[in-house]
Amino acid sequence: MSKRSERKEEHLALAQMFFNEKKQNNFDQMHLLRPALPETRVNLHSIETNMFGKKVSAPFFINAMTGGSKKSYKVNKALGQIACQTNIAMALGSASILIKEKKEQFESFYTAREENPDGVLIANVNPATPAQDAQRIVNDLQADALQIHINSVQEIAMPEGERNFLWLDNMREIRNTVDVPIIVKEVGFGMDSHTIKTLKSDGFDLLDIAGSGGTNFAEIENGRNSFDVSYLEDLGLPTVVTALMAKKAGANFIVSGGVRNPLDVLKGLVLGGKYVGIANVFLQEYMQDGQEGLLSLIQNWKQELVGLLAIYGQNDLKYLTQIKTYYDLPLKNTIDQLI
Ligand code: FNR
Repeated sequence: MSKRSERKEEHLALAQMFFNEKKQNNFDQMHLLRPALPETRVNLHSIETNMFGKKVSAPFFINAMTGGSKKSYKVNKALGQIACQTNIAMALGSASILIKEKKEQFESFYTAREENPDGVLIANVNPATPAQDAQRIVNDLQADALQIHINSVQEIAMPEGERNFLWLDNMREIRNTVDVPIIVKEVGFGMDSHTIKTLKSDGFDLLDIAGSGGTNFAEIENGRNSFDVSYLEDLGLPTVVTALMAKKAGANFIVSGGVRNPLDVLKGLVLGGKYVGIANVFLQEYMQDGQEGLLSLIQNWKQELVGLLAIYGQNDLKYLTQIKTYYDLPLKNTIDQLI
């Protein structure tokens, strides 16, 4: 097995080891004001939306995780089938591995497209990927959009990680070359206002702010290291805070990082997210209860989200940002200092 495939398998194992279903996070300090008299009725179609020109059954999706290893093949096959059966979008893990490694690696990515020929599939590359390779990956996977992940904390936590963070020029090249929409995405440490404004004014018009509160890549990489970098684990901006930064900057954005249940999805949409991404919670459900388990979890989430919209008095995704929010003091304190 190559070093990169090995790393992917270690990430899968450590994501499972550090997963804590009951973990509290910043979404718990955000509340939504609920009308006791909502004057709505549950409408199963109320959460349908469009993504990159295709209709999807819900505004939440399976965010980027796997690809490029033996285990990834099985996971991506199952996730592709589930995405097809539930008609939600799915992003693949970083495909930059395909540039340097053998073509056989491709199967672990392509299986997700084979299982879901008509659904929304999002490819993922690192910001240093040559633009022509990014386009080739998009073509090969018939991807509907391309995520470029920016992950400086994760890289610095890895002894073998990237040490050159001069990324923006190449990201522009990718954007100018690739013929599908680009999503610039963090991996769980959030995006600050300055970065959001820079990306927005540079024409990157969809950001996945991926804040802290869920998967922590400093913790995962620290689990692979022989030296201690646990101090990096607190460098993230909480998802709620980074989402508010994106909202204030007028960016188009996806909320992700620490989304654990349909109420967190609703909070992400109320914060102004166009879509909400979920990574490890879905992966761990698949690891624990298999394909059937994850399929019914996603079906349940759709039903529950529809119910939540109704009790919050809004049956239209367009108007969710009108729901009043309030915060516990520790989170409000951070918001007051940063936004
Ligand atoms: C990830 N994530 C990720 N992100 C990315 O842009 N490219 C990638 O290849 C991967 N790989 C990956 C593997 C595993 C096992 C996990 C759990 C996650 C990050 C992921 O897309 C997401 O941004 C973070 O995990 C935060 O979301 P959750 O997990 O808190 O919902």
